[in-house]
Amino acid sequence: MANSQHDFAPLAALLTWYDKSARVLPWRARPGRRSDPYHVWLSEIMLQQTTVATVGPYFAKFLKRWPTVEALAAADLDQVLANWAGLGYYARARNLHKCAVVVAARGGDFPRTETELQELPGIGPYTAAAIGAIAFDLALVPVDGNIERVTARYLAVTGAMPGVKPELRDKAQFFKSDKRPGDVAQALMDLGATICTPRNPDCERCPIHVGCKAQSQGIAADLPKRAAKKPRPVRYATMFWLTRVDGKVLLQKRPEKGLLGSMLGLPTTDWTEEEDNAPESCAPAKSKWQAVPETVGHTFTHFHLEVSVLTGKTSRKEKAGEIWLLHEDFKNHAVPTLFRKVAKHVVGRKG
Ligand code: ADE
Repeated sequence: MANSQHDFAPLAALLTWYDKSARVLPWRARPGRRSDPYHVWLSEIMLQQTTVATVGPYFAKFLKRWPTVEALAAADLDQVLANWAGLGYYARARNLHKCAVVVAARGGDFPRTETELQELPGIGPYTAAAIGAIAFDLALVPVDGNIERVTARYLAVTGAMPGVKPELRDKAQFFKSDKRPGDVAQALMDLGATICTPRNPDCERCPIHVGCKAQSQGIAADLPKRAAKKPRPVRYATMFWLTRVDGKVLLQKRPEKGLLGSMLGLPTTDWTEEEDNAPESCAPAKSKWQAVPETVGHTFTHFHLEVSVLTGKTSRKEKAGEIWLLHEDFKNHAVPTLFRKVAKHVVGRKG
């Protein structure tokens, strides 16, 4: 059974605090009001692995260009990917578009049950619960990193991450509420982002510190316990900056499957754990390749990439499937941050 805020002190205290202190966010309705499901869905997909501050401008740009889910469904996938560039995890953008197509085919209405929401492309248990609670007031608790932390502390769950995650997901049901479940979820998110923060929780300002077990035991800042982190493996690549007389640079569409799939990228050697000592054999043209001093580092979730760059010029004919763009024009295309960084490294050096 879900709790009712009227007879459950922590939820009542949380909601009173939220009514006064809710962060004003572009996708969010005021406390007590329901947000537009399209806005909730779009923001939740963007917020996966990305901060609120980064998402703000992207959310505004998407809504301006595609004000409804039907408009997004009718967009070209390449345009969606181009506008997503910089948010990372591009599979999310491809699923975003797929999901818009499915929802538009239903007349533009998102389904209103947790199970049906989870059947949509790109929507897992967390996102289904977030949309269900925030857009449709279903009594669900979306358990993200913030809510895991609040739960671990409030109930003094002392197991180490990531193994303790299933336990935290169960125990977070403590915050399940029949009344204003969307506001409870967003209050917990705000609490985790502003007061019950990872390193220095501000327990004195916390609206639910009275019942918090970790606070009373003086261990709030230590929870949830982290397992020692394994260092990220390092991979190496050489990328090719090939220019023509008109100043355009060669880009290639990356394979659909795999990291940065379907996006545009600079020609590259495979990304391997050993440095390639004959990278020219992978070059996209014959040229007097020149090494750019220093490497460019870029960190992905599961590894760190160190990129060496070779620059060259060509007058050869364009081949089928090649894309030639001026550097100034990269920003209008689906060019991921990694390649923009490499471009800046090359162009910055030329002055
Ligand atoms: N992080 C994930 N979803 C969020 C939301 N709806 N509000 C604030 N932060 C969030």
